[in-house]
Amino acid sequence: MGHRKATEGHEVLICAPFGRDADSVAALLHDAGYDVTVCPNLAAISTHVDERVGAILLTEEALHDEQAPLHEAMAGQPGWSDVPFVLLAAQRAGRAPSNAVSPFQRLRDSVNNVVLERPLGKASLVSAVASAMRSRQKQFEMRDRLRDLAASEDRLRLATEASDVGTWDHDLIQQTLKWDDRCKATFGMAADTQVTEELWFAGVHVDDRDHVDRAFKAAIRADGDGVYDIEYRTIGMSDGTERWVAAKGGCYFVAGEAVRFIGTIIDITKRKETEAALTASEAALRHEKETTDRLNHTLEVRVIERTAALEAEMASRTNAEAALRQSQKMEAVGQLTGGIAHDFNNMLTGVIGGLDIIKRRIAAGKIDDLDRFMDAASTSAQRAAGLTARLLAFSRRQSLDAKALDVNALVVSLEELLRRTIPENIALRIVAPNTIAGAVADANQLESAILNLAINARDAMPEGGQLTVETSLAELDDAYAAAKPDVKPGRYVMVAVSDTGVGMPPEVLEKVFDPFFTTKPIGQGTGLGMSMVYGFARQSGGQVRVHSRPGEGTSVKIYLPATSDMVMPDEGAKAAVEHDGRGRTVLLVEDDESVRLLVSEVLAELRYDTLEAGSADEALPILTSDQQIDLLVSDVGLPGMNGRQLAELARERRPDLPVLFVTGYAENAAIRAGFLGTNMSMITKPFSIDTLAAKIDEMIS
Ligand SMILES: Nc1ncnc2c1ncn2[C@@H]1O[C@H](COP(=O)(O)OP(=O)(O)OP(=O)(O)O)[C@@H](O)[C@H]1O
Ligand SMILES: [Mg+2]
Repeated sequence: MGHRKATEGHEVLICAPFGRDADSVAALLHDAGYDVTVCPNLAAISTHVDERVGAILLTEEALHDEQAPLHEAMAGQPGWSDVPFVLLAAQRAGRAPSNAVSPFQRLRDSVNNVVLERPLGKASLVSAVASAMRSRQKQFEMRDRLRDLAASEDRLRLATEASDVGTWDHDLIQQTLKWDDRCKATFGMAADTQVTEELWFAGVHVDDRDHVDRAFKAAIRADGDGVYDIEYRTIGMSDGTERWVAAKGGCYFVAGEAVRFIGTIIDITKRKETEAALTASEAALRHEKETTDRLNHTLEVRVIERTAALEAEMASRTNAEAALRQSQKMEAVGQLTGGIAHDFNNMLTGVIGGLDIIKRRIAAGKIDDLDRFMDAASTSAQRAAGLTARLLAFSRRQSLDAKALDVNALVVSLEELLRRTIPENIALRIVAPNTIAGAVADANQLESAILNLAINARDAMPEGGQLTVETSLAELDDAYAAAKPDVKPGRYVMVAVSDTGVGMPPEVLEKVFDPFFTTKPIGQGTGLGMSMVYGFARQSGGQVRVHSRPGEGTSVKIYLPATSDMVMPDEGAKAAVEHDGRGRTVLLVEDDESVRLLVSEVLAELRYDTLEAGSADEALPILTSDQQIDLLVSDVGLPGMNGRQLAELARERRPDLPVLFVTGYAENAAIRAGFLGTNMSMITKPFSIDTLAAKIDEMIS
């Protein structure tokens, strides 16, 4: 016991009233390391007895005193305490002990003692005292243990009280049952109830009796494990209340016989109620979850249905969109063909009407004043030619003679023509800095585009204003190109034609490139100008952008791919040449009879010998014969083998034969350079007799 005071049980009380006995014993024990107190008599000893005292040493002589106080003191010690005495008997030399009960004898019988006979050696005395002291220490240990035990018993009691645990103890031999108050309370019994096994079973719920009986019998069975652990219901003996209890316990066996059955019991009614509530709420929760699951399932089904409906809706919308696009396309085609038919009718009326009148007049012999009608017919025909040229431009199927072109020079050379086209109330400004690079484009087409734009600008400024034609270099970067799907990044030469006219509202701007879209009165505009500009720019690998706001004017910008090479546009008309084809033979291959007639007429006029063929098949035998041929003039679009393939075969036999292609449009030959071989050339329908004559002459000589 670590906390025990060092002085506890360390003191030796001495009472030796005879001679110097006390002093010598005290000195001896002091030397042995003990605290020593010498008392003059037994009364003094009695008052000194406490826990400091380890032993009491008395000589027989001391006992002649009144012993009562000492006996009282001894009796007054705590239960665990029994102070050891060391008794030194008087020397009885030669004397037999008397039979009378001596005072020594009395004490000797009543206390825990050791008797030493004198004379006595020092060592014997010290050893006797030491052993007495040791036994006293054992008493202290016992005392401490008892205290601990009491404390833990207290704790156990407190714990059982706090935990509502009741205890029971059945003596199976005596057939007696000991239940504590709490145990009885779980059976609704009063504290003073005398419990028996019958009473116990009577208090168990009828439905649980079998179950309890079985558990009890199993616990007390000799070959079982003795364990008892059970939950059951009781019906209160006095109050009739139903209670749930949990009983735990065990059986003790002696020599294979069950002797004692003890354990605890606890009222678990609350817990059972909570459990039941929990089970109920769990069931409710499960029910709720099932409901949610069902709802979710329904929701899922609905989502699927809705998705399907949406998909169907989307599909039908896609179909509707496709149908709309198709109808828009048909509308555009209708507009286009209607426009063409309408314009052609007008022009053909001019041609046919003119030719009719001429025919009649010739028949009637009135041949003066024919020029007027011939001019009218030819003007109508020219306009028709212009119309088809623009249509081809729009459809990007025109034959482009794209070359590296000095755009600045071209714009400057147009100044005079532009001035003549616009009225005096419109100021013309040309901005063409010399630093501009060349562009790859067809010069005639570019001129035509600029003229178209200038005329539009003029029409937009009936009250006069400012027309600006400007060139500049534009770098379209990747970011710009990425934003516009039809633009390739790179360097472009830009030609902008701007006016300060009426501008366009959004709905006009939206349709400005549509063929035959015009806001001009019938007869004034065909609605093909912007279409031509657009088709030309796109076919040249460029772009057109229009910026316009109502009341603020319009700016149309044509972007053409830039190049560093430059070529000046042809200057002025070529001088008319005198043609003399005598002695030379031309093979003409053309499937359209009237064109063939016309061309052969021109050739005859130029005094060439002409061989005619309506197809490549007809032409081939002539080409493979020994017939002299100085020039092959062939349509590109022939039935069967086309003009280009025919030229190919002709060149096998006649490697140096010049070839002139005539084409309405060059489908495979949009850019001439990619189509024509050496000593090959091309002329586009319709053409004037002069143009054809000049081309033929150029090729033969
Ligand atoms: N500079 C402009 N200012 C205002 N509106 C314009 C301008 N350029 C074109 N437009 C509008 O765009 C329409 C179509 O122009 P486009 O050049 O294609 O045909 P058009 O000028 O009407 O006829 P065409 O050029 O065939 O004689 C014009 O009718 C006009 O409404
Ligand atoms: Mg126009």
